[in-house]
Amino acid sequence: MGRKKITIVGAGNVGATAAHWAAEKEIGDVVLVDIIEGVPQGKALDLLEAGPVEGFDTKVIGTNGYDETVDSDIVIITSGFPRQPGMSREDLLEKNREIIQSVTNEIVTRSPNCIIIMVTNPLDTMVYLAKKVSGFPKNRVMGMAGILDTARLRTFIAIELNVSVEDTQAFILGGHGDDMVPIPRYCTVAGVPITQLIAKEKIDKIVERTRKGGGEIVSLLKKGSAFYSPSASAIQMAEAILKDKKRIVPCAAYLEGEYGLNDIYFGVPVKLGSNGVEEVIEVELTDEEKAAVQKSADVVKKSIAELKL
Ligand SMILES: NC(=O)c1ccc[n+]([C@@H]2O[C@H](COP(=O)([O-])OP(=O)(O)OC[C@H]3O[C@@H](n4cnc5c(N)ncnc54)[C@H](O)[C@@H]3O)[C@@H](O)[C@H]2O)c1
Repeated sequence: MGRKKITIVGAGNVGATAAHWAAEKEIGDVVLVDIIEGVPQGKALDLLEAGPVEGFDTKVIGTNGYDETVDSDIVIITSGFPRQPGMSREDLLEKNREIIQSVTNEIVTRSPNCIIIMVTNPLDTMVYLAKKVSGFPKNRVMGMAGILDTARLRTFIAIELNVSVEDTQAFILGGHGDDMVPIPRYCTVAGVPITQLIAKEKIDKIVERTRKGGGEIVSLLKKGSAFYSPSASAIQMAEAILKDKKRIVPCAAYLEGEYGLNDIYFGVPVKLGSNGVEEVIEVELTDEEKAAVQKSADVVKKSIAELKL
């Protein structure tokens, strides 16, 4: 069995940083694609030249075309515009749909058996578009959002309790937007629900900060949006798939009846293994939580409807 191949489309902040994590972890050789001449080539060569120093042995190539992407195992799509201050994820829809359409076509003709991990926003809508355009089965097209959102929540829990982030777990359902549905009673520190450890008002504040987590970074950076944590999250998904780890992580998955939802990409816990999304895991929800899930789903549905597919 040869080396695994990971194509990353978009050599901007998220894409190039994802290439960095992937190279360092040696989970497969990396092909970095972008339309800007020289940028993917330059970043790839620079990263390759970090190998001798950091001691990783990963081939990294950059290109403006797709010939080098042939027979990729995983394709991570990050091409497109990030949010600008004051811009909602939904404002991005029109700008990014053309890019995702053409990129998906280029990818699937050369790597008909790959697994697609969408990162481009608006996430739930762009991953829906990629599934339609690719014609791939639902297990091979997924979106990255939940790992990032829960990583933010885990960070804030760790800060609040002055404990290691490693001992925190968080649980969030829903679309990747301000209507996401964090569920505190399923968030734990070393197995203990945070509802027993943090006062309700504090939990509410942490949850609110998580909901606005993307916007908080955008307003600090002024130009561009978060990329370290998003790229690390995408690579965690790629690693779980390439190593058939059967990890249980939140991802945007295509639902057919789960959580009472149909024909939608939505953030839910899934099992990630060599077949991609191998299972959608359903959990019990209270009526209040169910209502919040429905509200989030309505927002995603509206955005998907704007695609007029
Ligand atoms: N899902 C998430 O949680 C999450 C998190 C962070 C960022 N994002 C999204 O990821 C996307 C990328 O963010 P970024 O910060 O890396 O942006 P960026 O501007 O730094 O990089 C985007 C890159 O895409 C390239 N590109 C544009 N059209 C292309 C095409 N047709 N083919 C190939 N490359 C093309 C651009 O040249 C640019 O280099 C944005 O849509 C952003 O909103 C999503």
